[in-house]
Amino acid sequence: MDASGLPGRRELPIHRPLMTSPAAAEPILKTSHLLGIEGLSVEEITGLLDLAERYVALNRGASKKIDLLKGRTLINLFFESSTRTQSSFELAGKRLSADVMNMSVKSSSVSKGETLVDTATTLNAMRPDMLVVRHQDSGAAELLSHKLDCCVVNAGDGSHEHPTQALLDALTIRRRRGGFEGLIVAICGDVLHSRVARSNIHLLLMMGARVRLVAPRTLLPADADRFGVEIFHDMEKGLAGVDIVMMLRLQLERMSGAFIPSTREYFRFYGLDHQKLKVAKPGALVMHPGPMNRGVEIDSAVADDIEISVIQEQVEMGVATRMAVLDALSRGLATEGRPARVARKGEGAP
Ligand code: CP
Repeated sequence: MDASGLPGRRELPIHRPLMTSPAAAEPILKTSHLLGIEGLSVEEITGLLDLAERYVALNRGASKKIDLLKGRTLINLFFESSTRTQSSFELAGKRLSADVMNMSVKSSSVSKGETLVDTATTLNAMRPDMLVVRHQDSGAAELLSHKLDCCVVNAGDGSHEHPTQALLDALTIRRRRGGFEGLIVAICGDVLHSRVARSNIHLLLMMGARVRLVAPRTLLPADADRFGVEIFHDMEKGLAGVDIVMMLRLQLERMSGAFIPSTREYFRFYGLDHQKLKVAKPGALVMHPGPMNRGVEIDSAVADDIEISVIQEQVEMGVATRMAVLDALSRGLATEGRPARVARKGEGAP
């Protein structure tokens, strides 16, 4: 146990103090949006994680606020429910001194039939600098990135990608294990419907980890054998010798048929408990992106075991990671404002 009180944490390098002047900051991302992990380079991911480390230090201090995004506007537009992602983007924006607006989709004109693009272009006309969007359709964030002239951040699109979740997972792993090279990570459960799994597979393979998918055949994508991962249908075999067990939520709301016999059966074969964990490497870490279905994909005794579960640490890393993402994207923003946008053909007016 180290001075931070967290077991197994490596000594971290001393990071430079946070800069508050965007003009002085080096670019980290090559693009003006964060739409997915696919397409990012190792250097971009490493740059974001290094920057996030500095925000972890800031967030652990008494004063958590800097003026980096003073005068900038961030809009959170969530078409699906969220606890962790929405609140951490809100906190991240506020700690960087941006004006943050959470758009409540339920009470917006979406309930009157307004489309995603019309809603987003309406908000875009209010001149935000960044729009964080979660939507039930894969590709929604990318679509908006072509239509809007602010930075778009994908906070989860259908079963496609959830890039900031993979980045915060990576930060958690790197802090605990020092790196990724040679680590064996088992991603277990409902891979089929999971954007978290897709983003993590891209990131972990790129950074040199070995990835196993452990799931019933019905909960694996048909093309999973082309992902460059090892596939297991049996938890005992799939968890043997792994360094990290990443559990996934069973996404019952995305299932329109019988993917599993019952949640009781599912827990028996695929729910993580201490018994199934015995075959993993001693000290293997347990992760879960949340929200958890206790007694379905994970036993409470494992989820709440502070010797092995880093689930709350993932949440903490989420704020720092999202601050790093907003910081990195802000480096590409014009400092003198932008011209009024002329609506392109085919874009609906509110
Ligand atoms: N992990 C995650 O995306 O959680 P929320 O749905 O609460 O944002």
